[in-house]
Amino acid sequence: MDGSGDTPITAAAPAYDGLPDSRVVGRHGMFPHTTHDDIARINFLAQLNRHLATQVAPFVKTAWETRAEPRVRAAEGRAPKDRHEVRKALLGDPMFATWSALRRMTMEQRQQTGRWVALREAETLAARAKSLTEGDPGLSLDPTLPIPRYVSAVDHHCMAGSYHTELIPGDVSAGANYDVGMFITTGGLLGRWSDGGGRAIVEWVKREKPDFKPRRILDIGATLGHNLLPIAAAFPDAEVIGLDVGAPMLRYGMARAKALGLTNVRFIQADASSLPMFEDGAFDWIQTTMFLHELSLTSMRAIFSESHRLLAPGGVVLHVEQPQYTPDMSLYEQAMRDWDAFYNNEPFWSTLHEIDLDARFIEAGFAANKLIHDKVSADARDIFPAAADDTVEDFGRKAAWRLVGAEK
Ligand SMILES: C[S@@+](CC[C@H](N)C(=O)[O-])C[C@H]1O[C@@H](n2cnc3c(N)ncnc32)[C@H](O)[C@@H]1O
Repeated sequence: MDGSGDTPITAAAPAYDGLPDSRVVGRHGMFPHTTHDDIARINFLAQLNRHLATQVAPFVKTAWETRAEPRVRAAEGRAPKDRHEVRKALLGDPMFATWSALRRMTMEQRQQTGRWVALREAETLAARAKSLTEGDPGLSLDPTLPIPRYVSAVDHHCMAGSYHTELIPGDVSAGANYDVGMFITTGGLLGRWSDGGGRAIVEWVKREKPDFKPRRILDIGATLGHNLLPIAAAFPDAEVIGLDVGAPMLRYGMARAKALGLTNVRFIQADASSLPMFEDGAFDWIQTTMFLHELSLTSMRAIFSESHRLLAPGGVVLHVEQPQYTPDMSLYEQAMRDWDAFYNNEPFWSTLHEIDLDARFIEAGFAANKLIHDKVSADARDIFPAAADDTVEDFGRKAAWRLVGAEK
């Protein structure tokens, strides 16, 4: 511009390819009210998360390659031997420290934001959940259920009170917090209803098992059922059960499912390591999404074994998770993925991603020639047109996962 005011602008402004506004998230009868300032805060944190992932993290990699790794080589006279050595070397680098501190801050702020929204309306939301679910046998809670220590001892991903803490009778605030803040954590990559994992698994089942007609489906660690509902919608003749130990999540989840008009869904409070209420072979499809990384190994062993018992012949067990740390994944990427274990209150994350899951399936009774390994990814085109075609998988735009499981 020459300041005269009549010079034409010839270059087209670059198209905006960032995150959508958080208000694209699907609203339903249980979704808490968000004010102008809540929305601004949610958008800011989601944008900051994306900025950290796409604009700052690449400089951490440069810092690793140009500073931290050469330091390890100089000190040890060899290349770093494992991801732990990489992480420890990164800890001394200011670029990693800055990225890591900001990432932790977005998690803390995400929880503060969601809790503020959920707690402000806690009583109204509890009353709404009650009116939607009262007397409905689809919601089955067990106030005597012992909460496993690996759930109760940790504020998972900085979430105060984890999945189970109840602050008032009939509390659903943990569910409301989880729902309202999901956009910040995922930046919309799971789509309008935060259900990309469930839709991905449906797509896989429809493609790989086109004649499969499940009568009963069990989703273990369903939380509030984000990924359960697309399965229920895709298989309307099946009875679909979401199981969790956290009552606030289940109350919110059942009320949300009803508000969204699903009629073939149940939510049950139980510990999946022992499910005597279900007979052998009770389910044709047992699954989890983003669940295994929060399990103790003792509990995983029990849940795999219980899944084998509960699965009908011809049925399938499927788990959607972040990728395992295989030898073809660089130690740097492994160390960066391990961030959640050390700085985001995910104590089992690191171990889960290094263990031999095949061995765990076989130990539980599944046949070695019936194991399943594949990849699935979330389609977020409903709110984020560029996402589905973007191939940047890691810390980028596309949510891509590993699918592991077994047929019986
Ligand atoms: C990371 S979240 C799972 C996310 C969820 N599947 C989704 O797609 O949104 C883990 C969930 O597993 C539940 N959980 C942990 N251990 C469990 C167990 N032994 N039995 C049932 N639920 C469990 C927690 O309460 C929590 O809601």
